[in-house]
Amino acid sequence: MAGIVLRLGSEGYAIHVGRGLYETVLAQTLVGMDPARIVLASHPDILELHGSRLEDALRGMTAGDTSMMHFTFPPGEENKSLLTLERGYVALLEAGVTREDVVLAFGGGVVGDLAGFLAASYMRGVRYLQVPTTLMAMVDSSIGGKVGIDLPGAKNAVGCFHQPVAVVSDIGVLKTLPQREVNSGLAEVAKYGFLYDVELLSMLRIWESERSFEGTAIEKIIARCAGHKAEVVRQDERDVIGIRALLNYGHTFGHALESACGYQALRHGEAVALGMMMAARAAEMDGMAAGGLLELHRDVLMPLIAQVEAPEGLEVEVVLRRMLADKKRGRRQRFVLLEAPGEPRIVDSLDEDIVRRAVEEILRETWGMER
Ligand SMILES: NC(=O)c1ccc[n+]([C@@H]2O[C@H](COP(=O)([O-])OP(=O)(O)OC[C@H]3O[C@@H](n4cnc5c(N)ncnc54)[C@H](O)[C@@H]3O)[C@@H](O)[C@H]2O)c1
Repeated sequence: MAGIVLRLGSEGYAIHVGRGLYETVLAQTLVGMDPARIVLASHPDILELHGSRLEDALRGMTAGDTSMMHFTFPPGEENKSLLTLERGYVALLEAGVTREDVVLAFGGGVVGDLAGFLAASYMRGVRYLQVPTTLMAMVDSSIGGKVGIDLPGAKNAVGCFHQPVAVVSDIGVLKTLPQREVNSGLAEVAKYGFLYDVELLSMLRIWESERSFEGTAIEKIIARCAGHKAEVVRQDERDVIGIRALLNYGHTFGHALESACGYQALRHGEAVALGMMMAARAAEMDGMAAGGLLELHRDVLMPLIAQVEAPEGLEVEVVLRRMLADKKRGRRQRFVLLEAPGEPRIVDSLDEDIVRRAVEEILRETWGMER
């Protein structure tokens, strides 16, 4: 097992990555927290697959002193919504949940973000644990305390910072993760590789040739990514000095793609994968990066999106309009670009023609899309 400590001022928390962790560190953490009740927040399909193991482990440790309630909602980005949040408040209120209790976010980024925000805002804040079940959530969203919900057409528009008491990533659950979700998480792994850690890209390639969740390779990859995320959050918890903003590599393009598809057709990691290729192309065209950067991105990322079909109705012009719409609203359009692997830079403006050509070229190469 790998244990990473994220230190934040006088506080901090542990991020555990390994196997069999529900029965060990998770149970021990909860014993230490001594809640009267555990609110298990999740999707029904995740509870169906892994809930009984988790609940058996928790019951074993609490010896019947702690009660458990479920708050479930259907999967899908569209449910990271005000409506679900309101349902959550009502469920907790009706069950008499107090600030002595604990919310356990058991799922991917959608559960983690929503349940984290529920915990942050209900009764002005209750303690919560992140127990991620997707690769994406293990390497990224469960760490760092950014929680929130979407508004119609505006992703992550409402939220706050609320750090969990601990993050417990049990790799055993990844065996049931659909391939597309695995690939989406691998795109986030690649993001850390491009930004900070070229060796991670080699580890990723080796792992991909077998794609096995047995053995220690995947544990090492997740722990390494969690370490990078923890270090970034330690340096810039509130995302104010530009260090945490680097994690948005590929996101300016990626968000426009997700938005152009109505947040349905593309997984977050897929949009980020395409966005990173666009950013690499833009960095080359701008002259900031030497040739070869896009080639490296293609090598690593193309296999992750090879099975993804072009989203119906997606048009280059719509993607560009979404990007320019942000700019017109007076928002600074920031891009994270690489001078070389491991050398990221934040760029406050990028020539519109370069943006256009980068989007056009990557969509044409990936899906044969013309303007
Ligand atoms: N807070 C942050 O810092 C941060 C960072 C990055 C992304 N995010 C957010 O994360 C969300 C995306 O998260 P995600 O990629 O984990 O997707 P997700 O939470 O939508 O989960 C993807 C799907 O996998 C299923 N699933 C989860 N675990 C499973 C398992 N072990 N076996 C089988 N199926 C399983 C889920 O039910 C769901 O259908 C987005 O809302 C994004 O905005 C947040």
